[in-house]
Amino acid sequence: MKKLLTVLGARPQFVKAGVVSSAIAQTSGLSEILVHTGQHYDTNMSDIFFREFGLPAPGHHLGIGSGSHGEQTGRMLIELEKVVDDEAPDGLMVYGDTNSTLAGALVAAKLTMPLIHVEAGLRSFNRAMPEEINRVVTDAVSTLLLAPTQVAADHLTREGVSAEKVLVTGDVMFDAVLRAKATAIPPDISGPYLLATVHRAENTDDPERLAWILDVLAQLAKDMPVVLPLHPRTRAALASLNLETRASALTLIEPVGYSEMIGLISGSQAVLTDSGGLQKEAFFLDKPVHVFRGETEWTELIESGWAQLLPPGSDAVAAVAAILNRGSEKGRPCDAYGDGRAAPKVAGAVLQHLADA
Ligand code: UD1
Repeated sequence: MKKLLTVLGARPQFVKAGVVSSAIAQTSGLSEILVHTGQHYDTNMSDIFFREFGLPAPGHHLGIGSGSHGEQTGRMLIELEKVVDDEAPDGLMVYGDTNSTLAGALVAAKLTMPLIHVEAGLRSFNRAMPEEINRVVTDAVSTLLLAPTQVAADHLTREGVSAEKVLVTGDVMFDAVLRAKATAIPPDISGPYLLATVHRAENTDDPERLAWILDVLAQLAKDMPVVLPLHPRTRAALASLNLETRASALTLIEPVGYSEMIGLISGSQAVLTDSGGLQKEAFFLDKPVHVFRGETEWTELIESGWAQLLPPGSDAVAAVAAILNRGSEKGRPCDAYGDGRAAPKVAGAVLQHLADA
């Protein structure tokens, strides 16, 4: 029996683990222990997902919480190393691009154990983003790089990662959406509405940029309600930057669980977001999507015409109006994200990798 230690800690990682951990549970010869760093700790940022997905309770909860990048990542390193020493796993797995990902990757690399990165190879080519640093470093030290798309795998090849280490599995987020459709909770909103989310540091920590986004959303809200589930980082930014009155035209709600989110997306006219996950969820659910960023890692969505970038200062209101009016003239969907069976491929590849190590 091979023993895998999976390090996670932020909301999008719980969503991915929801499908991957259940595939691992069905893989004989492979056992998994979850380590929750505590990066996200509010009930509706963490516990709600463990309940919804029936995830096993973490074997270890590090309780790290918030802090500066160095402080948060450093404390994770200290605690994770102890857990790895105690558990003596055959390998370690991380998801995505958060500080929890980076901490898990560094601990595995320093202890020279197999390291599997799910969602490897994504690049924004913007090193001012903390997530980009986390991705590049994690990919550089991983021993098995599981890419969601061919574009991601090509980035790795160009960076000199040897082809034997890279496998295109498809995107586990597609699996997650297909599974959640059955349990989607219909929104409690009457009439058409737009769904928005904003949480990236590049948007929330720049007062001008956040004010611009709020103004765009307020303009749009004159025609149709704009529902905005508020990430704690954004809530804090609105308070500290005195932007709460600018947000008063919007329908602000607390962060929601996954079934509720899938219901909110499905019921919306269009989605405006800076989240990587939500861009694809909107696409999988057939909703036009606008991205409050100057670039995206999910370039297939832009190239297929499905998603549109809204860089700061662009005429976002006109862009959204054009999409809402385009009716059946929607962009061509793309099939870059696999067949909705990425999670079993991840589980199989992990077992093989640990057996070969
Ligand atoms: C992190 C990831 C980001 C990911 C996002 C998903 C990094 C560098 N960034 O950003 O890539 O898209 O998670 O949500 O890892 N807070 C709470 N309660 C919580 C969690 C956070 O109040 O449960 C507040 C704290 O004030 C904290 C702030 O939100 O300082 C930011 O949280 P943090 O985990 O540092 O980063 P995210 O913005 O969530």
